Amino acid sequence: MTKHSIAVIPGDGIGHEVTPAALEVLDAVGAAHGIEFSRTPLDWSCETYLREGAMMPDDGLERLRGHDAVLLGAVGFPGVADHVSLWGLLIPIRRAFRQYVNLRPVRVFDGIDSPLRDARGIDLVVVRENSEGEYSEIGGRMNRGFPDEMAVQQAVFTRTGVTRVVDYAFTLAGQRRGRVTSATKSNGIVHTLPFWDELVAERAASFPDVAWEQEHIDALAAKLVLRPGHFDVIVGSNLFGDILSDLAAAVGGSIGIAPSANLNPEREFPSMFEPVHGSAPDIVGRGIANPIGAIWSAALMLDHLGHPEAGRRVVAAIADVLANSDVRTPDLGGSASTQEFTEELIRRLKGAA
Ligand code: NAD
Ligand code: IPM
Ligand code: MN
Repeated sequence: MTKHSIAVIPGDGIGHEVTPAALEVLDAVGAAHGIEFSRTPLDWSCETYLREGAMMPDDGLERLRGHDAVLLGAVGFPGVADHVSLWGLLIPIRRAFRQYVNLRPVRVFDGIDSPLRDARGIDLVVVRENSEGEYSEIGGRMNRGFPDEMAVQQAVFTRTGVTRVVDYAFTLAGQRRGRVTSATKSNGIVHTLPFWDELVAERAASFPDVAWEQEHIDALAAKLVLRPGHFDVIVGSNLFGDILSDLAAAVGGSIGIAPSANLNPEREFPSMFEPVHGSAPDIVGRGIANPIGAIWSAALMLDHLGHPEAGRRVVAAIADVLANSDVRTPDLGGSASTQEFTEELIRRLKGAA
């Protein structure tokens, strides 16, 4: 029996609906593979903020630090400004734990209708820079309420920060279909993205077996819709990677499916696993949230913790339900609840040899 300690933060909104589904699946697959999870439930959320004035306690990061991984639902809910909730919980975890790779795979499972006419062959991974870039606290607001009111926001691109995520993307592509597409906008942004391009070209030279190209983000967005099967690994800055990952997820059928792994590749700190989607206030409380993003994120956690077989089994069970039944949540055109989908998945997972 292998044991892992997991910190669980359901967070806000449908985080409370999809995280329990992921935990049920983890227990089922753990039982079959001799893996036991001890869980630390943490009620850090916008509700906590409204009650106590902080998204997490002062020693929150220290409390997470001793765990093998963090499983997170979603953060952010109407009533607390997003920049307060996200910069009070999600973003500090990504940064303090050097989770500089945000890995976001996209596949079109058999049995799912992509909004695209021809979605065959979509199997790509967005590698999003997760610790710097356009997400920065540097800047300011001036002249509030006056005609000359303004806001300035700096983007931060460091040699270390860009190089390490680009190296990760090229290494990953070397284990996949051998193609990296770098998202840029060096035709319009004059300092940061030309620097990004230079570093990508510099690092590409160390990976002669990987083909690479760069595309301006606007053209890349169009190509993702027109020729999604072309892409293997797409590497982008924090903001470009964020936007592309929702776009790519929708191309895959629904953003409710998309998983993400916030990785600290050096394993100095716990990595964090969470669906790409947010707290979905428009559907919260109805029991219809698609749990696939959260469940697939748990599978990525299994991979990271050294259980790739168990991770594969979970993804295979997702594929099995979608291909061989009509059990699916309303975002995928079905009428199943979160719970009904999860039960069907666990039934198939247990049934698989
Ligand atoms: P969202 O992802 O919460 O919702 C966008 C749309 O997708 C909504 O119509 C929603 O109903 C639908 N959707 C999302 N997940 C779904 C699921 N699992 N099943 C079915 N439908 C699903 O994005 P938003 O509305 O921009 O953000 C809502 C809140 O969540 C905001 O506070 C935002 O900042 C936060 N957010 C958090 C994270 C995160 O924690 N990583 C990610 C994105 C947004
Ligand atoms: C995501 C989310 C977050 C991000 C927001 C909520 C800050 O959209 O995880 O994709 O942009 O990183
Ligand atoms: Mn996002």
